[in-house]
Amino acid sequence: MPIVTSPEEFNVDDLYVDLGALVSQRMYLKCEGFNFAGSVKLKAAAEMVDAAERGGLLTAGSIIVESSSGNLGVALAVIAASRGYRFVCVTDARCNAATRELIKALGGRVHTVTRPTPEGGYLGARLEYVRKLCASDDRYVWLNQYTNPNNWMAHYRRTAPDLARKFPQLDVLFVGAGTTGTLMGCARYLRRHRPEVTVVAVDSVGSVSFGGPAAPRMIPGLGAGVRPQLLDESLIDDVVLVPERDSISTCHQLAAHGYLFGGSTGTVVCGAVRWLAENRPGPDCTAVAISPDLGERYLDSVYEPGWVARHYGPEAPARLLPDEPLAVSGALE
Ligand SMILES: Cc1ncc(COP(=O)(O)O)c(C=O)c1O
Repeated sequence: MPIVTSPEEFNVDDLYVDLGALVSQRMYLKCEGFNFAGSVKLKAAAEMVDAAERGGLLTAGSIIVESSSGNLGVALAVIAASRGYRFVCVTDARCNAATRELIKALGGRVHTVTRPTPEGGYLGARLEYVRKLCASDDRYVWLNQYTNPNNWMAHYRRTAPDLARKFPQLDVLFVGAGTTGTLMGCARYLRRHRPEVTVVAVDSVGSVSFGGPAAPRMIPGLGAGVRPQLLDESLIDDVVLVPERDSISTCHQLAAHGYLFGGSTGTVVCGAVRWLAENRPGPDCTAVAISPDLGERYLDSVYEPGWVARHYGPEAPARLLPDEPLAVSGALE
């Protein structure tokens, strides 16, 4: 029975959903959404705050400021509240309303940028605002998830060892790429301790992270308008890009089986199914995919038919048959 004295102490590290019956492949989904911040970002937030406190960067009276599409913002709001810091989250229009309200309920302040910069998109606009704030008052402390090595270190120390321990026969790991903290931490660990594991990055079409052309994206968490500074492509074996429309269809199919996950989980699962079908078909391959969060924060976007139709065209019905595997190519519509 876990008993905690601060919210960041609790994190479910060992929950995996067996997707085998749904996707017709030996695939397990590592669920990172079960903690008081509701996402994988609690680990990165805790690691970055701990390091900043150890290094004397964060002291009494500090105001933490961070650019976040939402989940890191919630995680930092949780930790800031628990440790007595003030917190400002700089986000953009794609951050969903529920996430913004959560940060405010936890005592944080939310600043939403409304205009993307020509080269850097919304992320560029967010970073511009954070820099301006830090220049205005030296109580502001920017942990900077985009460059902070403690972002990936959290996953090197916790996420990857956990899944490597649970799956001694692991063949392929699929990780979504936002800041690439999760991806880089897992890839570095596996390169060192389990070099036989294939590491595949999953990203959204429209993200420039892996060199693709920029295009509008609506699902928060994955993808970037500027190349992530933490990314070292030499540590990964392959990349799969998923159109957001297919991420949403995959979320709906998982929900039809009782699993309500966030939008980026749909991207990762869809990318994983497609990559496995093309590269490692058959029952001999064991794969794990990482699910960053759950679906309740996306009820007014990913799970709202009007929103989906507005952004991606008319909704396709989710497949409901329990024995129908997730389709592999194009057929997710
Ligand atoms: C929902 C969601 N998915 C995926 C990610 C990507 O994680 P990372 O920044 O470690 O690449 C994030 C990061 O904020 C997220 O919020």
